[in-house]
Amino acid sequence: MLTFAKQPYLQWPTQETMTVVWETSEPASSEVNVWDTARVHSGLDGRFRTLDDSARKITGHTPPDRIHRVTLTGLRPETTHHYRVRSVTATGETVESAVYPLKTAVNDDTPFSFGVTSEMGGSGTDAYNREVFEQMRMRRPDFLLLVGDAVNRGTHYDDWARYLFVPAEALLTHTPFYLVPGNHEENAEWFYRYVAYPDPKNYYAFRYGNTHFIGLDSTAIVVYDKSGPRLIERDGGFRPGAPQYEFLVNELASSTATWKIVFFHYPPYISADYQVDEMRALCPIMEAYGVDIVFNSHTIVYERSHPIRGDRLDLKNGITYVVAGGAGMRPQWFHHKKAWHTAFSLGTPHFLHVSVAGTRLELHAIDYEGRLFDMMVREK
Ligand SMILES: [Fe+2]
Repeated sequence: MLTFAKQPYLQWPTQETMTVVWETSEPASSEVNVWDTARVHSGLDGRFRTLDDSARKITGHTPPDRIHRVTLTGLRPETTHHYRVRSVTATGETVESAVYPLKTAVNDDTPFSFGVTSEMGGSGTDAYNREVFEQMRMRRPDFLLLVGDAVNRGTHYDDWARYLFVPAEALLTHTPFYLVPGNHEENAEWFYRYVAYPDPKNYYAFRYGNTHFIGLDSTAIVVYDKSGPRLIERDGGFRPGAPQYEFLVNELASSTATWKIVFFHYPPYISADYQVDEMRALCPIMEAYGVDIVFNSHTIVYERSHPIRGDRLDLKNGITYVVAGGAGMRPQWFHHKKAWHTAFSLGTPHFLHVSVAGTRLELHAIDYEGRLFDMMVREK
């Protein structure tokens, strides 16, 4: 019987497009119906379209396949639409999803919000992962940043359902996510098959509202093994001329956004085990181009830094580093006392809800039972 191995989820929203991805238990065709209507409570009354076999054009794969990617085009900006996916095997077996909402990216000056979490596979339990995603769902973020270690073993097929797609299912049907690789993703082929970001997929940048987001693959900058972390040469390392170095500089230098946010897995600042000092090689660049906030993970706790510039406190022009070690908890990794750069920290399963409205940004840190335990407001 043909079934969904992964329910449909959303990737890479723009003001006119959205990519829908799903996986079936057998190779099958790929079809998405999209309605322009924002509400379905009184029936589907909007314009009805069928996009058949778009996955073939988009992915270059020859259908039928098990993993389906269809990019919907011609959508209206900042608008809720509805969609449904359908696959059919060569023998006529059919599977069809429910109808789900999707929202295109907002206009440049429209307020928006996003969620941040990580470590569902690094430390999270099935129960915590479900609760964290359910709490996120209730806050209705426009999209998610997942700062790595979403799975325990990226090379293990079953992990992707267990740690990410099943516990987050009710959220991911209508909320796009941006995942950057952690060490637990193992630079595995499954990562590249499940995400639908521009090549090379493990690092990317996008504009949402008035904010420039840059996601990096820190596992291609630092190798982290039993002998400790060190800068590595994979993909050219991190120096002028290296792909991620040039990417970061070019993105920041060309940015006209009000807010600049960078996210990657290994934390340059954390008053706990698994700080990766080598990642501070990025700080002078991010400081020079006015990055506001950096989201990290890897240490499975929550910690927000004071504003830092030049490895010193700078309340006016510093970068705030937030380790959102997400769905798991390892409070035993905290050092005996906080470091000079620590503003607030707690070891509990959690996520962040970040709201951006013009020159005001509000960050809420919320635990798996919905309790607010930290917040920050920044204004320009
Ligand atoms: Fe990690």
